[in-house]
Amino acid sequence: MSEPFKDILSHTEAGVMTITLNRVDKKNSLTAAMYAAMADALEVAQADAAVRVVVIQGHETIFSAGNDIGDFLNKPPAGMDSPVFRFLRGIAAFPKPLLASVCGPAVGVGTTMLFHCDLVYAGDNAAFSMPFVNLGLCPEAASSLLVPQMLGYHRAAEALLLGEPFMAEAALEVGLANRVVPPMEANGVAQSVARKLAAKPISSLVETKRLMKKGQQQTVLRQMDEEGASFGRMLGEPAAREAFGAFMQKRRPDFSKV
Ligand code: COA
Repeated sequence: MSEPFKDILSHTEAGVMTITLNRVDKKNSLTAAMYAAMADALEVAQADAAVRVVVIQGHETIFSAGNDIGDFLNKPPAGMDSPVFRFLRGIAAFPKPLLASVCGPAVGVGTTMLFHCDLVYAGDNAAFSMPFVNLGLCPEAASSLLVPQMLGYHRAAEALLLGEPFMAEAALEVGLANRVVPPMEANGVAQSVARKLAAKPISSLVETKRLMKKGQQQTVLRQMDEEGASFGRMLGEPAAREAFGAFMQKRRPDFSKV
């Protein structure tokens, strides 16, 4: 019998489905199998009336190091039906309240997924970064649209062109985080807010979220598709191959020849 899949854990209690990133030895970097498990969990959460709210959480030392770089090299996402796109479309269109608890580094998709969450609770050690350019890539998850909207253009350029990290307090200031708490408390705070939401009428929650999002839902999905096409092409190009090779060999990338 094969081992049960442990890199993503999910359980439902008191109307709250909690999805836990659980690959801490690899800094919760996300493999295709993990995206598939999260996309499946969101589908179950959407269909199951017993789930009223979803929380995505990591470990108090690490939220996620982003996409698994070995997967980028050896098993890049093949087309729009691949697990990563199923997950991204799933969070962008998820109709019920979606919360995140973020501690430690949140790199790449570890940060961009948060723009699709309704409420974000951050440990004071949270460090958000979107270093796509430094990897020879471009933004994903509609972040090229949503980051400038939330941060303003110039701060977005710092985050997306320079790939510079920003800390929990800055996330609070721009509105990406709702509250900053000690790391050991973040998951608990997210759970207690989730339970508060789960006690409210689900039809009102869903309708309110739909009305807040409807103005740009289609634009977000279109931006995600356009980014996905560029990202897919760029994964195979020399700049990204150099960046991934350098990460695997634990050296600095050299972009002088690409
Ligand atoms: N893909 C695959 N493996 C990863 C990974 C990733 N994105 N991020 C970390 N790991 C692995 C490391 O290779 C290392 O594995 P090893 O123990 O077998 O050597 C292990 O996780 C620990 O990582 P390490 O870099 O030693 O941890 P750290 O605490 O010094 O740094 C990070 C943590 C998140 C800052 C750092 O790992 C990092 O920058 N990761 C890459 C982030 C990235 O560029 N992601 C892609 C975004 S699109």
